[in-house]
Amino acid sequence: MGKVYVFDHPLIQHKLTYIRDVKTGTKEFRELVDEVASLMAFEATRDLPLQDVEIETPVCKTTSKVIAGKKLGIVPILRAGIGMVDGFLKLMPAAKVGHVGLYRDPETLQPVEYYVKLPNDVEERDFIVVDPMLATGGSAVEAINSLKKRGAKNIKFMCLIASPEGVEIVKEAHPDVDIYIAALDEKLNDHGYIVPGLGDAGDRLFGTK
Ligand code: PRP
Ligand code: URA
Repeated sequence: MGKVYVFDHPLIQHKLTYIRDVKTGTKEFRELVDEVASLMAFEATRDLPLQDVEIETPVCKTTSKVIAGKKLGIVPILRAGIGMVDGFLKLMPAAKVGHVGLYRDPETLQPVEYYVKLPNDVEERDFIVVDPMLATGGSAVEAINSLKKRGAKNIKFMCLIASPEGVEIVKEAHPDVDIYIAALDEKLNDHGYIVPGLGDAGDRLFGTK
């Protein structure tokens, strides 16, 4: 069964408060999402395997560590996942970026896929799917299905805010996927919005409302 990690780091919690605040404007919201994505990426890459390499410092030859293993792919769920990509790339500039475009039908709340573009070497990469919100879980489940259908095997999912319902749905559909969350909120409301949440992540990131 995949693990669920809820980050309790004070910096993440502090920044998340301002992300949630309705008074926070688009510019600041975008900057904060970027910063929290970097902090979460730092925490979520703790288990990356290392290997020894021989190098020479100005003083002597020595053995030191570099990251080993498969290459990484970051996959934002469009639109709002885009806001988390740069924060990752600051720490892992060599990661490739795939995109899965999904929107949630406002009536049925079911995800509708409209775009998928992944790196060619899907089978050789480990992927981290990113989206600020895990609400009903439909979008996350569908995005992970989309990656698996194309050959991805090792996938993590990372979001800023999750509902308990969403976490359970993803765990059920994809028991092999670890989930990383900055905050686990109380519930979903009748419109499928996370409570207390942060509102519509895409609109707040891109200023479309
Ligand atoms: C939001 C959010 C997630 C999805 C979560 O996107 O960014 O992708 O809702 O909801 P779910 O867990 O119930 O599927 P939205 O569908 O609003 O599309 P947008 O990013 O294009 O605004
Ligand atoms: N999508 C969002 O952007 N916010 C929510 O609270 C739920 C889904």
